[in-house]
Amino acid sequence: MKEIVLNHPLITHKLSILRDKNTGTKKFRELISEISILLCYEAMKDAKLNKVTIETPLEKYETKCLNEDNYAFVPILRAGMSMVEGIIKVVPNAKIGHIGLYRNEKTLEPVEYYYKMPENINKREVFVLDPMLATGGSAIATIDRLKQDGVKKIKFLCVIASPVGIENLKKAHSDVEIYCASVDRCLNAVGYILPGLGDAGDRVYGTK
Ligand code: PRP
Ligand code: URA
Repeated sequence: MKEIVLNHPLITHKLSILRDKNTGTKKFRELISEISILLCYEAMKDAKLNKVTIETPLEKYETKCLNEDNYAFVPILRAGMSMVEGIIKVVPNAKIGHIGLYRNEKTLEPVEYYYKMPENINKREVFVLDPMLATGGSAIATIDRLKQDGVKKIKFLCVIASPVGIENLKKAHSDVEIYCASVDRCLNAVGYILPGLGDAGDRVYGTK
């Protein structure tokens, strides 16, 4: 199992604006979308393509296409939804499942309140989306649930991860690859990532 950290000047630049507390809702959403596209691009590097024959205006041409039906994208509500907008720009027929989890503020344990997946979820490769991997509890609970439904291949895409979140996710699900834009320093006493970007859900939806 491996974690892939996107190491690129464009990512560093976008993250710097995203982290800034003076960045407003509109820009914050746009940046999450843009970073999500870059994460998806990297995570689909091993995608299998099917042979197809098309005709250019000049001749027949044997080429390859993606079968988008082989995939499902599963944002963890709420904040994970902010990653979907970017992803459907590059995988426009993506099937989307939703899982609703919130963290109990005292125990930091995830509590499930919604679960709805596309049909035949067990036959698809699933990309779980959440901008923040903090303790890892939400990611682990989501992946536990998907595996109960028979999903075999899962990748986890996040914007910012903490070292302990990566360690916990690796321990719980050693088969799941993690793609992130940054691994930050640590968690604070109440489970927030430092330096981080604050509460992703609140910043996306302007709730605080
Ligand atoms: C945030 C974030 C993750 C979770 C990460 O969601 O979007 O889902 O915390 O923390 P963890 O790795 O310690 O589980 P939150 O619970 O704040 O819910 P929200 O998206 O509805 O704001
Ligand atoms: N969830 C967030 O939204 N931010 C953090 O820093 C940690 C968990």
